[in-house]
Amino acid sequence: MEKTELLYEGKAKKIWKTKDENLLISEFKDDLTAFNGGMKSSEAGKGALNNKISTELFKMLATKGVPTHFVEMLDDNNMLHKACEVILIEVIVRNIATGSLTKNLGIEDGTVLPFTLVEFDYKNDALGDPKLNDQHALILGLVKYQDELDKLRRMAREINDILKPYFFEKGLKLVDFKLEFGKDKDGNIILIDEISPDNCRFWDVESGESLDKDRFRKGKGGLKVAYENVLNRILNN
Ligand code: TYD
Repeated sequence: MEKTELLYEGKAKKIWKTKDENLLISEFKDDLTAFNGGMKSSEAGKGALNNKISTELFKMLATKGVPTHFVEMLDDNNMLHKACEVILIEVIVRNIATGSLTKNLGIEDGTVLPFTLVEFDYKNDALGDPKLNDQHALILGLVKYQDELDKLRRMAREINDILKPYFFEKGLKLVDFKLEFGKDKDGNIILIDEISPDNCRFWDVESGESLDKDRFRKGKGGLKVAYENVLNRILNN
């Protein structure tokens, strides 16, 4: 399948049309951004690592019955996937407090939450991705029905229930992550976007070291080695 026309360029991916209106190609870029584009850089090979990690995770989730947009990995940086109507809600799942949760609510960094927290952010860069409650999401028309918000939360929890033990067996704590969903041509809500260390936090069980984009956010270096480490753990057991 070949790219025909650039549909959209985001911070971490370019999305291309194909000859088939039901299929798109995501090209994973090496660009890195944080704090809503306030911090920018690039790391050669990062895009390919995220493409490979996302591919493995989408395939694994599909075997557990989670519907995703994934069709196939085309080459190092390109993934073929279904075209969807994007739901403009970022679904954030948290097992351990860190990042904005710690900052906004004063919960001590590293606190294991008494239950998994699922939050919604409005996917709108101009507004700085503000937090949403269900009424906000319905008033904005991001989905039509409360049922759909309930479904997003349920799917996010199911995905967490699969990913958390999967990564723990590989020596990684899944601290938090961000998911995006869309509606396919039949109106089904499916998982889209990517699952990678750009939008998940992984802490090594033994050392507590971050193996994710926090290395960039905190200016620690070693980002590529950390992402390779995550990919190797996924591939090797
Ligand atoms: P969060 O702590 O809310 O934000 P920040 O990255 O600003 O500290 O992030 C929670 C998780 O969700 C984390 O794994 C990063 C991911 N995330 C994204 O991928 N994109 C986003 O726009 C946001 C806000 C979070």
